[in-house]
Amino acid sequence: MKALIAAGGRSTRMRPITHTINKHLIPLANRPMLEYPIRKLVEAGITDIVLNVNPGEADVMRSVFGDGEKYGAKLTYVEQQGGALGIAHAVANAEPYLRGDSFVFFLGDNVMVGSIKKMKERFEAEHFNCMLALSRVKDPNRFGVAEFNADGTLKRAVEKPKDPPSPYAITGIYFFDQQYFDAFKTMKPSPRGEYEITDMISWYIANGRVGYEEITGWWKDTGTPDALLEGNALMLDEMKGVTVAPTASVDAECRIQGNVEIGEGSVIGANVLIRGPVTIGENCHIEHAYIGPYSSLGNGVTLKNGEIEHSIVMEGARIDCGKRIVDSIIGKNAVISAVADTLPRGHKLIAGDSSKIEL
Ligand code: DAU
Repeated sequence: MKALIAAGGRSTRMRPITHTINKHLIPLANRPMLEYPIRKLVEAGITDIVLNVNPGEADVMRSVFGDGEKYGAKLTYVEQQGGALGIAHAVANAEPYLRGDSFVFFLGDNVMVGSIKKMKERFEAEHFNCMLALSRVKDPNRFGVAEFNADGTLKRAVEKPKDPPSPYAITGIYFFDQQYFDAFKTMKPSPRGEYEITDMISWYIANGRVGYEEITGWWKDTGTPDALLEGNALMLDEMKGVTVAPTASVDAECRIQGNVEIGEGSVIGANVLIRGPVTIGENCHIEHAYIGPYSSLGNGVTLKNGEIEHSIVMEGARIDCGKRIVDSIIGKNAVISAVADTLPRGHKLIAGDSSKIEL
């Protein structure tokens, strides 16, 4: 079985971070978001993976994920002709690469804890034409939602309904057979101008056998900083124990509590408390600092004289401000320093487009 991962789209909801980085490259627990679906597929024995990317973005994505060897996969990059015309269109666009067998379609901004093996096995053993992963959510109106008949069978799928027919979101992990491609020829774009995956699912419900599994431990980027921090926390929760890379140096007085990872070349100096789960990348420099639960510090981060908790700090950022920073996303090479003793006094900001700052 092959797989397709959707990694295109416009990513407007993740600004300003997505002004300079494709959202699928945003780090969760110090790994690019897309690495999780790739690993999940490999773990289920699906190694022939096609990545759907925006026109012109194949090279940048290839520079991060390569040919897939490091994951035990074979990655093929396919640009979505015409751009982000909807996720059902992303599959149709990849038809030449998916022809021949059933396939799994994974949305690149979906992360799940646990395995997709059971779904794959049921899809194959029970000869379904389509298989869905459903998850009970508090806000179904943000998702594709499953509507059920009185006997519990699926009736149809509706995209972001104002009045959801059930609390079950249809997550971004789908199995389809080859009928997909002929069915797509009958589809029309929705009022928002996209080919909707829910229309395809409703077609399968009307014309074939659709199975479903309920999953827990599922995360999807819903475009808010809180959601991103939640995804980061979910992945940090998977960490076990304390791992200090051989070339990292940790001051004898440093206190490490819970699950903590410290990367190659990082220096943890005087007066530091790290309370996991926390991941610290390579070549970071930390002193006189507290790093609290659910924090990820990317490579080359400097944190001096300050505290950080429940936050994502990306590569090369420098924090030296004597303050406590919580629930924050700090972009690459950002600098947060103490108020300089110069006039006029006050907070001096160079905030990028669409930045959000609470003072
Ligand atoms: O995450 C689950 C939800 O994903 C489902 O419940 C919905 O039924 C489904 O339509 C989708 O909803 P979103 O509107 O949230 O999808 P989004 O635009 O965020 O795109 C999902 C992924 O697919 C994301 O990784 C970007 C990628 N994408 C998106 C479009 C529109 C593409 O690769 N190509 C596209 O044309």
